[in-house]
Amino acid sequence: GASRRWQLARELSTIKQVGVVGLGLMGHGVVQVTAMASSPEYTVVAVDGSKDSIDAGKKRIDQSLSKMLDRKVKKGVLTEGDAAAQKEGISSRISYASDVSALADCDLVVEAITENPEIKFSLFKDLARVTRPDCILASNTSSLSIKEMAVASGRPSHVVGLHFFNPVQLMKLVEVVRCDVTDPVVFEECKSWAQTVGKHPVSCVDTPGFIVNRLLVPGLAQGMLMYDRGDGSVEDIDKSMELGAGHPMGPLTLADYVGLDICLSILDGWVQKYPDEPSFVVPECLREKVAAGKLGRKSGEGFYLWD
Ligand code: CAA
Repeated sequence: GASRRWQLARELSTIKQVGVVGLGLMGHGVVQVTAMASSPEYTVVAVDGSKDSIDAGKKRIDQSLSKMLDRKVKKGVLTEGDAAAQKEGISSRISYASDVSALADCDLVVEAITENPEIKFSLFKDLARVTRPDCILASNTSSLSIKEMAVASGRPSHVVGLHFFNPVQLMKLVEVVRCDVTDPVVFEECKSWAQTVGKHPVSCVDTPGFIVNRLLVPGLAQGMLMYDRGDGSVEDIDKSMELGAGHPMGPLTLADYVGLDICLSILDGWVQKYPDEPSFVVPECLREKVAAGKLGRKSGEGFYLWD
């Protein structure tokens, strides 16, 4: 069955040792799902620049693991003792480091650092320097060009996009992104690896926003433009898409969830780079909220107030 296929995919996978750079909203989730799928002999190397960010990442992983395992205990799938042992096992497969030199033995490194092209280019150069030449370098970027990072690395055939979705622990999709210089073997290996961490991979080419965000982000922007024009209240716009289109969250709730600063940086970047694409627009309310420090769920206020 499915579990046997998963076992087989894991045994056949050439990707055993995985590194993750950046332990924020996305990166901590990638570390966690990788550790959950790993065998005891393989560790996930989790890298972030400061002790504070490492501690924050650790705490997030710990809380999320507890949530997932407690749920299984409540459902009667696991005993409390088994849950504690699993948590211990998964946590012990994660090692933490503050320098990329800890990634020297990795077969795959996924970066999930800030969405700033210059900072990413510099990281890719460093990663190519510290890892083995056959190590695959992946970016979790949601809107930047994979080709540009591939070129910056100096190892273009081994650079791909591996785009996870928030919350990584629950969302089943990974977009695997190739560009014209990607080695087809590398691309296939990444698709198999995504399956071994319990995700459904889809093949994407290196276009702005790949598949999901090319459809999703302009949709969020249209919801905000409606609000700007006074065509509907925040609540009515969201309820409409929840109850009328079956979306789990309406566009303005989802924008708060993703982070309004992230939405703004994606749209701003696209408008500058692709000025002739009519679906790339920056709504006034988005700019105003970010300028006022209202970044959505993470800052406590966006289109809604959050606990
Ligand atoms: N780790 C572990 N468990 C978690 C968790 C996490 N990070 N987050 C939530 N859970 C748990 C909850 O505690 C809950 O457990 P209980 O039932 O025991 O309380 C369970 O998972 C389900 O959570 P919810 O009750 O909140 O469930 P929900 O049915 O409302 O689903 C959701 C939550 C999956 C987030 C759903 O609302 C959803 O699919 N929303 C849309 C999300 C989305 O579109 N994401 C993509 C954003 S775009 C993106 O990521 C790309 C980009 O680049 C911008």
